[in-house]
Amino acid sequence: MARPWNFSAGPSALPEVVLQQAAAEMLDWHGSGMSVMEMSHRGKHFVQICDEAESDLRDLLGLSPDYAVMFMQGGGSGENAIVPMNLMGRRGTPAADFVVTGHWSSRSYKEAGRYGDAQVAATSGQATQLDGGEQAPFTWVPPVDTWKVRKESAYLHLCSNETIGGVEFMDWPDMAALDAPDVPLVVDASSHFLSRPMDVSRCGMMYAGAQKNAGPAGVTMAICRRDLIGHALPICPSAFDYANVAAEHSRYNTPPTFAIYIAGLVFKWVKANGGVAGMEAANKAKAELLYGYLDSTSFYRNPIHVPVRSRMNVPFVLRDESLNDAFLQGAEAAGLTQLKGHKSVGGMRASIYNAVPLAAVAALVEYLKEFERRYG
Ligand SMILES: Cc1ncc(COP(=O)(O)O)c(C=O)c1O
Repeated sequence: MARPWNFSAGPSALPEVVLQQAAAEMLDWHGSGMSVMEMSHRGKHFVQICDEAESDLRDLLGLSPDYAVMFMQGGGSGENAIVPMNLMGRRGTPAADFVVTGHWSSRSYKEAGRYGDAQVAATSGQATQLDGGEQAPFTWVPPVDTWKVRKESAYLHLCSNETIGGVEFMDWPDMAALDAPDVPLVVDASSHFLSRPMDVSRCGMMYAGAQKNAGPAGVTMAICRRDLIGHALPICPSAFDYANVAAEHSRYNTPPTFAIYIAGLVFKWVKANGGVAGMEAANKAKAELLYGYLDSTSFYRNPIHVPVRSRMNVPFVLRDESLNDAFLQGAEAAGLTQLKGHKSVGGMRASIYNAVPLAAVAALVEYLKEFERRYG
């Protein structure tokens, strides 16, 4: 069966070799006589799978032992509540600051307000003038020197890749330069996790749902500096208290075993393909090819401020939006699937995660050209 090129924003394409390996091991994992789904989460087989996944992830991120790696449930939305419940009260009265640059950071900010005093440190939720042109709301990142971070805040949260908007932070702020040296950064990296080298030591916590770049839905990677753990609000469920999850190596309660296993296979695939530096090189080439074409024509348009265009999620609109349905139908017929933009922004979106090869992006660009020749 021919599989189409899959541009889904998540759950999204997985490396085909990972799917093949999982299929081959489905009935009998490494002579155990069982599928991974049928194993006890405390038995030696799964403990090996889980510990290996953690150790591979630590290698990929170059993590120091000061950080706990936790495989959790609840997704990015779950962490929007789990993070404040764990961290917001660590300096007394619960308080945290938020950089709001799109849909997902807005959601994080709103959810945190249920647990304490959440304030906006900076937002791109309004239009602005940049580089001599107007940028629409949530298509740009506020300059770091305009951020207002309270010194007494428990943390500063940002979403380093807005999956819907297609806005990516290429770097993180230096909290000392922001005059808030004791405020750790908390980063929602869900949609560009493992897509390039990231210096996790510059943040207090990073989390990511697996279902974009790192595996299937169901497991969330939560990476937290150990000194921040242990101050959960009394209302925090025990199963979501990082102190419990970290102490039990992600097995305080039954974790999403099969999702962790697949994520572990993806980590091995990333390692075998040059690690995060290898991923970055491939992702740069794919992004350059796609943005290069979009910029060469007025038939399509990507609205994002150029320096913060996401390498993972590329939204674009057709000059004539009445052609949207024809575009999507033609794309499906050409073997290019899940290109429809998020309903809140419309248009199209190509998510070109780690597992989407350059050949897929080349096929997309060919289709863009062909469609333009026909309708332009
Ligand atoms: C950046 C980001 N954060 C959070 C979420 C929410 O994740 P979930 O649906 O796993 O709760 C998403 C989902 O697409 C996302 O892209």
